[in-house]
Amino acid sequence: MAQQGRARRPMMAANWKMNKLVAEAEEYVAQLLPKISGAEGVDVAIFAPFTCVAQVASMTQDTPVVAGAQNLYFEDSGAFTGEVSAPMLKELGVGAVIVGHSERREIFGETDEAVARKTVRAVEAGFLPVVCVGETKEERDSGKMWEKVSGQVRAAFEYLDANRVDGEGIVFAYEPIWAIGTGEVASPEDAQDAIERIRGLLEELGGEDFAGKVRILYGGSIKPGNVGEIMAQKDVDGGLVGGASLEADSFAELVTGAARES
Ligand code: PGA
Repeated sequence: MAQQGRARRPMMAANWKMNKLVAEAEEYVAQLLPKISGAEGVDVAIFAPFTCVAQVASMTQDTPVVAGAQNLYFEDSGAFTGEVSAPMLKELGVGAVIVGHSERREIFGETDEAVARKTVRAVEAGFLPVVCVGETKEERDSGKMWEKVSGQVRAAFEYLDANRVDGEGIVFAYEPIWAIGTGEVASPEDAQDAIERIRGLLEELGGEDFAGKVRILYGGSIKPGNVGEIMAQKDVDGGLVGGASLEADSFAELVTGAARES
C-alpha cells in the first residue's frame, strides 16, 4: 500500500559487489537509463566495483543517477597498498560510498573503528555514505539483534558529531546478514521494527530533526516481487540491492516500484 506523502525521499541502490567488467557495466547503464527515465521522486545510486566507477560516473553525470563506490579508505594518500581514497573517488565523479558492508566486516575483518573513520571521512569529503549494519542468524536467534545493531550504529558515530551533520547527508542500511544473498527476505514487520529502532537511536544521538531526515534502507534479498511491501513500511526509506540489481531490467523494476511507493 502506498503511503500518502513519505517523510523522506526514497532511495534505491544497486550494489554490484564484485561483478561486471567495464563493457558489461556500460551495457547495463545504457539499458537502465531509458527504463527509469520516468521514475520520479526516487534517488537512484549504482555502487560499482572500483574498476567500473569511472565509466558509470561518466555515463550518469547528466542524469539523476548517482555513481557510487563500495568502499573507501579514511586516509587521503600514503603507504596503504590496495586501498582507494576519497580524493581518488572524487576525481572520478563518485557521489556516494558504501561503508561497513557486512561482507567487508565479516570477510575482510573491517572493525567498528575502521567503519567509524570511513564514515567521518566520507561525510567530510562530501560523499553520501551508506553505512551498513545488521546481525547474524545466531545473534537474532539468541535475542542479540538489537545489541549488535545498536552497537554498530553507535560505533559509526564515534568520530562524527551527529548534531553537526545534516541528516540528509548520511544514509544507513539495515541488512540482516542472514537475508543477504539467501533469498530469505526479512518480513516487512521485522524490517520496520529494526529500522524504527535505529531511527529512535539516531534521535538519541543527533536529535529529532536529524533522525527525521536520515534515510534508512533495508537490504537482503530484495526482489521486484517483495519490494512493495517492504517499501510500504513507515520507516523504510528504500533498498540496498545485491543480486536483483545485477540485471538492468530487474533493477529498473525496483526503481519504478519505489517510485510508485513514493
Ligand atoms: P542481496 O544483497 O540483495 O543479494 O541479498 C544485498 C546487499 O548485500 O547489499
